[in-house]
Amino acid sequence: MSILNLRAVEKRYNSNSVAVINIDLEVAEGELLALVGESGCGKTTLLRLIAGLEEPDRGSIEIENTQVAGNMETVPPQQRPVGFVFQDYALFPHMTVARNVLFGLYSWADEQARQRVIEVLKLVNLTGLENRYPHQLSGGQQQRVAMARALAPKPKLLLLDEPFSNLDTVLKDQVRQELSIILKRSGTTVILVTHDVQDALSMADRIAVLKDGNLLQVGSPETLYQRPINTYIASFFGKANLIPATCSSGEVVSELGTFQSKYAGKSGMLCLRPQHLHVVKNQQEGIAAEIVALKFMGEHQQLKLKIGTCDLWCHEPIDMNYQVGQQVILAVDLNQIHIIETTVNF
Ligand SMILES: Nc1ncnc2c1ncn2[C@@H]1O[C@H](COP(=O)(O)OP(=O)(O)OP(=O)(O)O)[C@@H](O)[C@H]1O
Ligand SMILES: [Mg+2]
Repeated sequence: MSILNLRAVEKRYNSNSVAVINIDLEVAEGELLALVGESGCGKTTLLRLIAGLEEPDRGSIEIENTQVAGNMETVPPQQRPVGFVFQDYALFPHMTVARNVLFGLYSWADEQARQRVIEVLKLVNLTGLENRYPHQLSGGQQQRVAMARALAPKPKLLLLDEPFSNLDTVLKDQVRQELSIILKRSGTTVILVTHDVQDALSMADRIAVLKDGNLLQVGSPETLYQRPINTYIASFFGKANLIPATCSSGEVVSELGTFQSKYAGKSGMLCLRPQHLHVVKNQQEGIAAEIVALKFMGEHQQLKLKIGTCDLWCHEPIDMNYQVGQQVILAVDLNQIHIIETTVNF
């Protein structure tokens, strides 16, 4: 069942700038959707529209099959079953942890609200810190208070705007794992805004990519990583080798060579991730290339290679000894070949 339905949603802040354009999006119950895109592409605006903090200029928004925006009708934010965790957590500095969490439960009976605070603080592993003030907490603990406050009224839909952006790498990994567990336990439907590709790929059931207010592609992490519909998305999710190719009668022809492929009749860009190109030893057959740069990346080494007019990237184990200027033979993982049709490039 879909819990959120956006149809042709559009928002302008002033006449000459459009923040989001013609957005159609459905989110299923229990799903975690990551919303990604570069700064200024409209991510926060979309969350604010869903929460009711902004009104769309066009289109409609339904939550649980009830229209909350569109056709001159608007349900105010406090009447929408939506929780919001803002980028800066927006905790009340003069209130204790327990008071911060209690804040969203103003319409609950006292005893029920007290029980819910205890329950939700247990859920986010903050039992015992009820009487601390936000400045007495670490960044990760503050983030969990904000989560507890948003989850307390049992929202159907939880909107998280860059929840990890204030955390350092070590804390972020820990909080990301904790958050995934908390969200699965609570069964809440979530839209997670992030500009971090790893957050999106590792946490989301589906990812939606926004660019300049347009929704470009929505799909599983695997789909967006392995079968992006344009070169922008291919590069957004990590290094991609993009090589012009023509495809005819079951063959892909490019500077990398000619391969059998199901992409008959399509032309565009061959898209191949660096881990799908391999240096092969003691082999005559393959693609001749020259190493033009080497970079140590910790878990692998990144080789920049030249083949004809193309520069390519390839990831190799760090224990392999390569030199700049070395000639190598490459093999392509043929199962991983993806063609981006030129007509849908942006
Ligand atoms: N209140 C506002 N008045 C006018 N323009 C605004 C307002 N809020 C946002 N914008 C503009 O709308 C566009 C989308 O902004 P938005 O905050 O939704 O981007 P974002 O994707 O959340 O970016 P970031 O990753 O930097 O948070 C931007 O061009 C921004 O300058
Ligand atoms: Mg934002």
